[in-house]
Amino acid sequence: MLTPSWVQGAELAGEPRVYLDPRTAGLSGLARKALLFVVNGLRVPFVLRGVQRLGRGVRVRGHAPIIQNVGGTIELGAHVFFDAPLTAAYLDVEPGALLSIGDDAYLHDNVWIGATRLVKIGERALIAPGVRIMDNAYHDLHDRHARPPSRPVVIEDDVWIAFDSLIGPGVHIGRGAVVGAHSIVTSDVRPFSVVAGAPAREIRQLDRAAFERSRLRPRAQDAARPSVA
Ligand SMILES: CC(C)(COP(=O)(O)OP(=O)(O)OC[C@H]1O[C@@H](n2cnc3c(N)ncnc32)[C@H](O)[C@@H]1OP(=O)(O)O)[C@@H](O)C(=O)NCCC(=O)NCCS
Repeated sequence: MLTPSWVQGAELAGEPRVYLDPRTAGLSGLARKALLFVVNGLRVPFVLRGVQRLGRGVRVRGHAPIIQNVGGTIELGAHVFFDAPLTAAYLDVEPGALLSIGDDAYLHDNVWIGATRLVKIGERALIAPGVRIMDNAYHDLHDRHARPPSRPVVIEDDVWIAFDSLIGPGVHIGRGAVVGAHSIVTSDVRPFSVVAGAPAREIRQLDRAAFERSRLRPRAQDAARPSVA
């Protein structure tokens, strides 16, 4: 059984399924670098060909996002990371709409984003598995075949959205805010606040200075995880 270094020592139920990880493939040195070059350099532009503006160093691990883009615009900043070992993200961008994802944003498994007009996600955003972000509810409450008006969603820099949350139309999430797991966010979120619940309510305010200090430290989790495609 091949186990990637970052899960060694962890309690695993059954056989882990490991996606393309050069370390687990038994490669090292030049061969690993060559594989990374091929996977990152050639695969990414191919699987992200529905993207109009592709920043440098965008990465895809595991499943490439499924992109439904018929006449909209998708822009991905530098080093955006689609990390989907289990389930692909889905990006649905309608004609004339803009989906913009800022530098160094991280999107995990099974993220669903629907842009009918504007969804903007800031730099260094952390989007956890199962998060849904949409600027339209897609069905009018009475006439289910009609569309309600779109309302842009803006998620500022350094926001963390935890597992399985839904960010609804018209929501503006301020810089550095945290959305707790399984939240339904229907109204604006103040910068550096933590909101949780359905509907989401503010549960605490963060210490902005502590946040800024933490950004100066090297990120331990980066060192612990493999650099994979
Ligand atoms: C955002 C989060 C970290 C906040 O944690 P916290 O600030 O330590 O919050 P606390 O545990 O002190 O809870 C404060 C209050 O909010 C409530 N609360 C916390 N998280 C909640 C949530 N996700 N949904 C509903 N209520 C929540 C608590 O019940 C508590 O209520 P009380 O004061 O009435 O007892 C946590 O909510 C969370 O989502 N954890 C999961 C993170 C995750 O998904 N990680 C993996 C993917 S990136």
